[in-house]
Amino acid sequence: MFGPQPAPVRLGLLGCGTVGGALVELVAAEAATIAERTGIGLAVSAVAVRDLARPRPAALPPGALTADAGAVVTDPAVDVVVELMGGVEPARTLVLDALKAGKPVVTANKQLVAVHGAELFEAAAAAGVDLLYEAAVAGAIPLIRPLRESLAGERISRVMGIVNGTTNYVLTRMADEGASYADALAQAQALGYAEADPTADVEGEDAAAKAAILATIAFGVQVVAGDVHREGITAVTRADIAFAARLGYVVKLLAVAESGEGEVGVRVHPAMVPATHPLAAVRDAFNAVFVEGDAVGELMFYGRGAGGRPTASAVLGDVIDAAHNLQVGGRGRAVPMVRARLRPMAELRSQYYLSLGVADRPGVLAAVAAVFGDHQVSIRSMEQEGLGDEARLVFITHKAAERDVQATLADLRHLDAVTRVGGLLRVIGPE
Ligand SMILES: NC(=O)c1ccc[n+]([C@@H]2O[C@H](COP(=O)([O-])OP(=O)(O)OC[C@H]3O[C@@H](n4cnc5c(N)ncnc54)[C@H](OP(=O)(O)O)[C@@H]3O)[C@@H](O)[C@H]2O)c1
Repeated sequence: MFGPQPAPVRLGLLGCGTVGGALVELVAAEAATIAERTGIGLAVSAVAVRDLARPRPAALPPGALTADAGAVVTDPAVDVVVELMGGVEPARTLVLDALKAGKPVVTANKQLVAVHGAELFEAAAAAGVDLLYEAAVAGAIPLIRPLRESLAGERISRVMGIVNGTTNYVLTRMADEGASYADALAQAQALGYAEADPTADVEGEDAAAKAAILATIAFGVQVVAGDVHREGITAVTRADIAFAARLGYVVKLLAVAESGEGEVGVRVHPAMVPATHPLAAVRDAFNAVFVEGDAVGELMFYGRGAGGRPTASAVLGDVIDAAHNLQVGGRGRAVPMVRARLRPMAELRSQYYLSLGVADRPGVLAAVAAVFGDHQVSIRSMEQEGLGDEARLVFITHKAAERDVQATLADLRHLDAVTRVGGLLRVIGPE
């Protein structure tokens, strides 16, 4: 159908772990079909790992394995470099070397792109080759390419998503079973959804890196992980989740990137999402990203955010793109690199949920309400739960400025009658 096939495009893999191993197997299984469909032949020609003695996929071509990652990059028998080792160094140096040598790079490394994206994109542009990273955000879900290409003419106002499967799994267990945070996390670890050291997930670091990449691609601005306001899920209690459920909300860890008035706001925090919102239905380790645009309205992208085969599928899509562009002698559309004007978190306007431990005595409610009033934070609803030492006041505010809510919290902490200031949750819409 395509006439004589050109020579296969040769892949050099940096890493052959969960994703790299799955990619080797996918290429072996699908290369013939891919060639039939696209006219592009693919072959894995070199693979770098740390430990040569570890078992590897049977599909790995003999003699491909090496412990010298630099040699894969410079190997004249490698046309496209696929970085699947993770971490910042030596991945950054290896990717830069590949780009400088005129080799397209595909990576799944969110940390690398979210911290050193500008430097890497510049190197790719200077060399006139692709740097593709579909798998770096929300694993298998096609998201980067639709944002960059299909929605290139769209005025996107907000990208809001569940981009960390571990925390979504933990929050789902807490909601379904009334499990404590610690028990839900232990379950996630037992099932391999959470690492032994879960810090990067539960503190929102992983989601913040993805939020930075999403903001960059959706708004055409340069945002790095350190620009993202970040709060994790460790302070969320089962009482918060149960209360949210009673009011018709589900608690989710959201990555939110918003653009307006020449500024971009990017944040990661737990939030109360209305049970009727499509993101509320995203359970367990699944990911989803909700995009709002001027002409397009609302879109949602949903699927598996991690796992060897799903992630390798996204990597393979990029590999085919890079191979095609290499054969026709071009590169795909790149994102512009304008520095963003970042909206400070203090300027966010949202509704808020707040729970307070209070002494159960007369006058307490009036004193607490006065603090809200002093900072122009208007209360939409208030409930008292429990008695005696267990007494708790739970508030939902009308829309208020983050700055005013934080000032309210600071004053409440000094109030005698307040025994504990619980977690603060932003409440998503309705506007
Ligand atoms: N796993 C997922 O579900 C998923 C989802 C989305 C994105 N990602 C991203 O994909 C990338 C790979 O993740 P993974 O889960 O496949 O990691 P992994 O299972 O830990 O595999 C990493 C691989 O890189 C090799 N490696 C590490 N440092 C090296 C070095 N200095 N020189 C040579 N080889 C080196 C390791 O060699 P050994 O095998 O010898 O140890 C291993 O084969 C990461 O950036 C990750 O964030 C992963």
